[in-house]
Amino acid sequence: MPVVSALAAIWRLLPTRIPSAQTRGIGELDLRTKMKAAWYEKQGAARDVLIIGEMDDPQPRTGEVRIRVAFSGVNPGDVKKREDAFGVGMPYPRVIPHSDGSGTVDLVGEGVSREWVGRRVWCYGAQSYRPFGTAAEYTAVPLQQVAQLPEGVPLEQGACLGIPGITAHRAVHVAGSVKGKTVLVQGGAGAVGACAVQLAHQAGARVIATCRAESDNEIASRAGADEVLLTGEKLAERIRTLDLAMNVYDKASDEDIRAGLKVASKKLLRSDLLPKDLLPTTPKQPEEGESAA
Ligand SMILES: NC(=O)c1ccc[n+]([C@@H]2O[C@H](COP(=O)([O-])OP(=O)(O)OC[C@H]3O[C@@H](n4cnc5c(N)ncnc54)[C@H](OP(=O)(O)O)[C@@H]3O)[C@@H](O)[C@H]2O)c1
Repeated sequence: MPVVSALAAIWRLLPTRIPSAQTRGIGELDLRTKMKAAWYEKQGAARDVLIIGEMDDPQPRTGEVRIRVAFSGVNPGDVKKREDAFGVGMPYPRVIPHSDGSGTVDLVGEGVSREWVGRRVWCYGAQSYRPFGTAAEYTAVPLQQVAQLPEGVPLEQGACLGIPGITAHRAVHVAGSVKGKTVLVQGGAGAVGACAVQLAHQAGARVIATCRAESDNEIASRAGADEVLLTGEKLAERIRTLDLAMNVYDKASDEDIRAGLKVASKKLLRSDLLPKDLLPTTPKQPEEGESAA
């Protein structure tokens, strides 16, 4: 075997990171110093600005846990931030994108129980007012932004819960209890819509969902919709007895959406038009020892 190929073969067998045995935080003995990550240092199209490389492992600070990321959740908001759609420029010199993700806690910072080590979790807000998100092998986030993933819920599903789930939670619960009321979720098979259907159903509402495609009917039904209406079915006539209507779809120019909203307009709420002080806080974090909901 030529020397170069032999060296290459040996190199491939070596760990990709140089180990350095030292105890970090109050978790496990950590032998790694570098992780693979994707980041950008200027805004623009993914192909122009995203860099994939190695950088230092994050270390959990007081009140934080470190997650070995299994899945990183990409949200439209992450793309908009990378493309500077909000016109605020680079908030940090380097950004690892993606606020949502899932994985297993492998280290904890001061003040966090070691019982968290080894737990399957999902997190949100990792790159929200913070520079380093989940598009990396590891991310460190405050414990308040981490929830245990119940048994049987796949990690990839947990990685997509954050922003869509919180959006749906706010939309459903912003105006108080929906128990015994009828909630209309337009687009009830989408990321936000399917969560909204589940949350409203769980909170004791009667849920009417609308979908465009027959094949989406099952998604909305399985999420807990009592009735699923296909658009183009004379929606305005079929949506009745509405106590609360919610539009999570912002293309209100669409005929069907407008028809549904007109019927529901006596108590119409649009999640994007709500005054900030009406917004409830994010879903309750389970206390130590409580199982995650
Ligand atoms: N994703 C988030 O984290 C997030 C956060 C904040 C706000 N939002 C907003 O929430 C809305 C939904 O976002 P999403 O991420 O959930 O999108 P999504 O996953 O693409 O879901 C949208 C759903 O609405 C359906 N739909 C489109 N037009 C419809 C119509 N006329 N009648 C009934 N259903 C219709 C779509 O069906 P088709 O597949 O047939 O098009 C799709 O199932 C958007 O306005 C978005 O800006 C989203």
